[in-house]
Parts: sequence; structure tokens; C-alpha cells
Amino acid sequence: MNVVVTLDELRLALSKLKESVGLVPTMGFLHAGHLSLVKQAHLEVASVVVSIFVNPAQFGPHEDLENYPRDLKRDLHLLESAQVDLVWTPTNEVIYPAGYQTWIDVGEVSKLLEGGMRPGHFRGVATVVAKLFNAVQPQRAYFGQKDAQQAVVIRQMSKDLDFPVEIVVCPITREPDGLAMSSRNVYLSTQERQAAVVLSHALFQAKVAFEKGARDSNHLRKLVQEILETEPLVMLQYVSCADPDTLQEIDGEIDRALLSLAVSIGKTRLIDNILL
Ligand code: PAJ
Repeated sequence: MNVVVTLDELRLALSKLKESVGLVPTMGFLHAGHLSLVKQAHLEVASVVVSIFVNPAQFGPHEDLENYPRDLKRDLHLLESAQVDLVWTPTNEVIYPAGYQTWIDVGEVSKLLEGGMRPGHFRGVATVVAKLFNAVQPQRAYFGQKDAQQAVVIRQMSKDLDFPVEIVVCPITREPDGLAMSSRNVYLSTQERQAAVVLSHALFQAKVAFEKGARDSNHLRKLVQEILETEPLVMLQYVSCADPDTLQEIDGEIDRALLSLAVSIGKTRLIDNILL
């Protein structure tokens, strides 16, 4: 497995890879969710490239950039075992050299939900992903349904800017008790970790209700909210029942929907979702 930092090193390493190339963009501190994207890539492309870059541009001024968990040595071991061909670990200077001043601002789909709670977040995500796409020029790129809105924003950007890349979205990998895997789960204390299971349980119960015939978006939102409220450590930020493509809230009857939520537990912000 080749590990490179600069753009020159990356280009040389890419020129030696077999086509087609699949890219898995990450911020490191890898877990089984990230590795599921690598596995899916192996099924579909000849060479798998993983990028690891904690992108400062997508963190707000009061967010966890400084404390974001990092363990490059462990990540590289995991990627080696997963038979990744090439790992790109650019520095801040490689991605945002002095004088950098170009940003990608995706419209409506990036302003709702997470975009509303985290102004500027998707501007940072879209910009870095565009740069990763330009540098690696993959035929396919792999994202997780865990960050459902991120996948919608990247799809929109790729379509609008004519990136010749197929965006593949892989299902959420969960812990045995249902908690969606996330690099941020390490922030949770034992008690908070126990409380966090209510997120997936609320979504699963809404799915059961949907499958039994509940179709009213307001009812499903309320059901999720009431279950979350049974857990005193959970501070609700939003529950959304929206069109999975446009992310517009649905009022009334649904036939398919993205049911998503954001909460904070202590100092940790968590998101989760389920497709109905
Ligand atoms: P990061 O949070 O490291 O996630 C990298 C990719 O792994 C994302 O596509 C994310 O949705 C996916 N992922 C995370 N947890 C997952 C889980 N439990 N199951 C399935 N997939 C999961 O998302 C980012 O980094 C950044 O915003 C990035 C796209 C790299 C741009 O900086």
C-alpha cells in the first residue's frame, strides 16, 4: 500500500494504478463504517484510493476541530488489512495553500437540516470533495448514508459541475445495539453511550410504525421526538421527515421519506437517519 502526501506524489502513484479508480474520502479515525465503503469499492473498481484529511473548512468556530480524534498509524494498519491500494494524507498546506480563495457553495439542499445548524459546513465539505475529485479523478466515489445530507449535497455538486464521477452511497454500519458508528462516538462517557442508543431505537420504531401503515409525516416526527424525550441526557436539535432527494420537509402523507435527527448528548453532537 502506497501512502502519499503531496500532489506530485499522488499523481505519480495514481499513474501506476489499474483503472478504474474508486475514491473513499475520510477524515480518519476509521471504523467499520469507513471500511464498509472500502469493501463496496473493492467490488466495483480495480483500484481503491482512500483520502484522510481532517478538513478545517467544514468545522465551525466552536466545533471540535482541535479535538477531532486522530490516529494515523492505526488507520494505515486498517487500510493495509483492507487491501487499499493508495492512501492520500494531504496536509492543510497541500489542500489550502497560502492565498487560497475559491469556495463551492451548493444551493438549497445545503442550507436545510445540518446546513441550518452548521452554517458554512457544506461549503467546506463541497470544496474539499471537489478538490479531492480533481486531484484523484476517480470513476466512482463512495459515501455513507450516515451523512445523508452530505451525500445529497455531493450528488448535487457533481451534477452541477459535471464531475465525471459516479457517487455511490452505502448503508449505515451500526454497533450491535443500533448506534450508528461514528468517529465522534469516542467522546461519549459510559452513561452517555448508553443514552445514545435511543437515537436508533426511535428511528427503528418509526420504521415499524411506517411498515404497519403509519403514513403521516407529522405523526412519525412526533413519535421519534417522544421516544427521544424519554432519555434525559439527550437534547433534541431537530427531527425531520423529508423528501430523500430534495430534503424538503413533507407535511402529511408520505410514500417515501428520509427520517433524520440531530441531538447533543453532553458535549457531543450526534446525527442518525433511516429511509422509509
Ligand atoms: P468522515 O466522517 O470520516 O466519513 C467518511 C465517510 O464515511 C462519509 O461518507 C461518511 O458518511 C461515511 N461513514 C461514516 N460513518 C459511517 C457509518 N456508520 N456507516 C456508513 N458510512 C459511514 O464525512 C466525512 O468524513 C467528511 O465530511 C468528508 C466527506 C471526508 C469530507 O471532508
